[in-house]
Amino acid sequence: MKLFLKVVVALVLFGGGIYLGKVFFGRSKNIPAPVPSYFNGDGASASDSAAMGAGTVTGKIFEIKPGHSIQAAVGQANPGDLIRIYPGVYHETVYIDKDNISLQGVIENGEWPILDGEKKMNDAILYSGNGTLIENIKITNYKGNGIMGQAGNNYVIRNNWIVDTGVYGIFPQFGKNGLVERNILTGIEDAAIYIGMCDNVDVRFNEVYGNVAGIEIENSRHALVEYNYTHNNTGGILAFLTPGLPIKTCFDVIIRNNYVLNNNTKNFGAVGSTVSHIPKGTGVLIMAADDVTIENNIIMGNENSGITITDYTNAGVNHANDPESEPNADRITLLDNFMDKNGSDPIDEIKLLMKMKLSKKGLDIIAVGGGEGSCILNPDRYVTFGVDKYLTCKASDTHAVKTYLLAKPVAPRQTTVAEKGKMTYYGVCSGCHAYNTRLVGPPVVMVQAVYKSNPKGIVDFITNPVHKREDYPEMPPQNYLSPETRQAVAEYMLSITK
Ligand code: HEC
Repeated sequence: MKLFLKVVVALVLFGGGIYLGKVFFGRSKNIPAPVPSYFNGDGASASDSAAMGAGTVTGKIFEIKPGHSIQAAVGQANPGDLIRIYPGVYHETVYIDKDNISLQGVIENGEWPILDGEKKMNDAILYSGNGTLIENIKITNYKGNGIMGQAGNNYVIRNNWIVDTGVYGIFPQFGKNGLVERNILTGIEDAAIYIGMCDNVDVRFNEVYGNVAGIEIENSRHALVEYNYTHNNTGGILAFLTPGLPIKTCFDVIIRNNYVLNNNTKNFGAVGSTVSHIPKGTGVLIMAADDVTIENNIIMGNENSGITITDYTNAGVNHANDPESEPNADRITLLDNFMDKNGSDPIDEIKLLMKMKLSKKGLDIIAVGGGEGSCILNPDRYVTFGVDKYLTCKASDTHAVKTYLLAKPVAPRQTTVAEKGKMTYYGVCSGCHAYNTRLVGPPVVMVQAVYKSNPKGIVDFITNPVHKREDYPEMPPQNYLSPETRQAVAEYMLSITK
């Protein structure tokens, strides 16, 4: 018996030795394929991203090491393939125009694969395929976008580290059914996480700091923003209906369980951009969006105000050219939140309001402009302005909503060539070109004057731009777009009338 015990003990120790050895010394190179989602608790429905089709690897695995090209692997990959990127520095723009491609960084001994645009390249990763997964990649020094989606559905973007990538950090546009989680973003001069014209998206467990806008839900529907840590931006979390875009609504947004702290960074947005108007010290900002619920957040130390709810007029946004965008924030539901120490150094307009109210303590909540059907719970807990007309909310929580992800992947967006042109214009070109004002590039009217009925001339230019104007920077080449898309966007640019 004793001997038997000894054998057992020896076996256990030996087994343990092997186990320890594996963990500490002989690290297995057999890295698993991406897990559908780490978060399979009852907070969200079963394995969210598996249900989305992204990250399901059925094909080949490409192993990319420094000196290899990620884009070359994408070129060879087929739907269902996994591209693993090992630690090292890569200088490229990756464009994924196929379905079900997974890009997975391999982090070894704390070393990340780094996409570095050296402040010369515009975008790090662009995707238009469905079921795209992008995870574990450090992205830095780009001028345009860290990760941008153009009409790709069922996307998963997680665990990326995005530092100083220019205008936007993570920017899925026109996507349905997407998950953006556990990313860290800083140093972005517009919106760090920018959900633009999307439906059904969960944005959770991200940290965003030192950006102009932390998390922005723009012209999107069914968005759940929760468990994020947004601090030291100019504005923390925003839900906007921006006029002039092809999607004319922004509604059904839940902002809950987030930390929104000390968003007092001086606004460093590009002059003329929408976000350049955000006053520093903005915690949560709702502009012209409808059916927004704000619940259970900790909102503190934002010097302008904790929560701002406004229409276009009070935000100084001109929507005269777009009568289809309804200008008011309607049916805003303010459930219980923890708020304190907000509004200590607001903009002059708010200072004036505070004088009128004889309030010394800064404003936690300010609601200005039109709008109807809004409600608040326990308004006495906060210093408020403009919520006197709000009713008492009937609902006390949003527990019934676990996720806005759909149970099954949605079909790819069907787009005609003409729609592709329009989407590409708004997705890519409109960041630098506006109809009759100068942005980064010349106004569209000027381009139209040069090219009139010559779309091919535009195609040639954007494929391989030559520097023309002394007083403008060079335009980055758009040769990653398919020839068909280049033709479509050129035609669309020539057809614009406002
Ligand atoms: C990152 C900013 C940026 C993006 C994105 C961008 N452009 Fe430009 N574009 C510029 C700049 C800057 C110039 C002026 C370049 C010059 O004069 O050297 C320019 C110039 C042009 C011109 C004028 C060429 C000429 O011969 O006068 C055309 C046409 C054009 N862009 C089309 C497009 C299209 C189409 C897209 C979208 C697919 C696009 N641009 C995206 C910045 C951009």
